[in-house]
Amino acid sequence: MREVSRADVVLSGYGPVGQAFVEHLARQGDGLARRHGVRVGVGAVRASSAQCRLREGEPVPPRSEWSPPAPLEETLDQTAARVFVQAIPSSPPLRRHAAEEALVALRRGVHVVTATKSHLLSHWRDLDEAARAAGSMIRISGATGAALPAGDLAGTSLRGLGCTTIRACPNGTATFVLDRLAEGDSLGEAVREARRRGTAEADPSSDLSGEDAATKVRLLSALAWGWDPASVQVRAEPVGEGTSRAALDAVSRARRLRAVASASLDEPHLVRVRLEETEPGDPLYALAGPEKAVVFGCPEAGDVIVSGGRSSPLGAALALVKDTIEVTAPRTGFL
Ligand SMILES: NC(=O)c1ccc[n+]([C@@H]2O[C@H](COP(=O)([O-])OP(=O)(O)OC[C@H]3O[C@@H](n4cnc5c(N)ncnc54)[C@H](OP(=O)(O)O)[C@@H]3O)[C@@H](O)[C@H]2O)c1
Repeated sequence: MREVSRADVVLSGYGPVGQAFVEHLARQGDGLARRHGVRVGVGAVRASSAQCRLREGEPVPPRSEWSPPAPLEETLDQTAARVFVQAIPSSPPLRRHAAEEALVALRRGVHVVTATKSHLLSHWRDLDEAARAAGSMIRISGATGAALPAGDLAGTSLRGLGCTTIRACPNGTATFVLDRLAEGDSLGEAVREARRRGTAEADPSSDLSGEDAATKVRLLSALAWGWDPASVQVRAEPVGEGTSRAALDAVSRARRLRAVASASLDEPHLVRVRLEETEPGDPLYALAGPEKAVVFGCPEAGDVIVSGGRSSPLGAALALVKDTIEVTAPRTGFL
């Protein structure tokens, strides 16, 4: 019988993603432990103004039973956490807070696994240096496309395969909206339908402006080529009222309009998001509804394509589970 080690985590953020993370571990923890040799337990959950400690197997208590938040250092020590999981908003006001907490954990030798993106864009170098100095790791799958394992490919799986370009539709809402425009919907109708299906958030502006797609490709470029996301320039063409004509024109030529985010070693530190007509045979043409895909251009090895993976709180939570297992499971033999 395989030996199973323990990995306690402190979770920061108990919104839809944080809750799905806790629920998934409660349901699947035994199976994950048997398969991967590590039992992941949630030792504490922190939200904006309160936290709770959990004993093994205990469910998260109602908010009325939570206590005021303790300093993170104290909570990490008391829970003997091996991983600090971040699922707080990716909003500019929380950027510094997210960075400071991640740095506290990394400097103590606690691995960080995050679905929160904002601090990765601004504090990449600091986070990397802190992790290297303390021998800890930071994993960001939840920030680069939820359950789509594009970050793993960019960061580790393609090492040595000579990836020189990244071309992606990593934002499901933009792809969905463009396809609806191509069917004759107005922009307003397309966005309403995306919201109705749970694809778009209440405010889809960063999906339509190209900002979200650019963020993901900035992070993938950082993983693949060591670019500092803070010094990457973005040139993005938004999806707007005027895009309907281009979407309909593309269909009339048997093509599909896509918001393609790209980066290339030939143009260092630049990420573009362009509305491009794609043709049959192009993996980005083949996307349907809110699907996502990334094409890693590897001239010698051949292009490597990853697509699929749910864009949902559960998809992001599963990416957090995957990364938590990745940084804590025994790595010997075939693994
Ligand atoms: N939803 C998705 O499909 C998806 C997919 C990929 C990535 N993500 C990323 O995952 C992250 C979490 O998203 P979400 O949808 O679960 O919810 P969210 O609305 O981004 O986060 C809400 C949670 O964060 C907590 N929070 C706010 N400020 C905090 C602070 N200073 N310290 C600790 N906790 C704090 C809130 O506390 P209170 O409960 O006290 O308000 C709440 O529990 C975001 O960064 C998002 O971009 C989401």
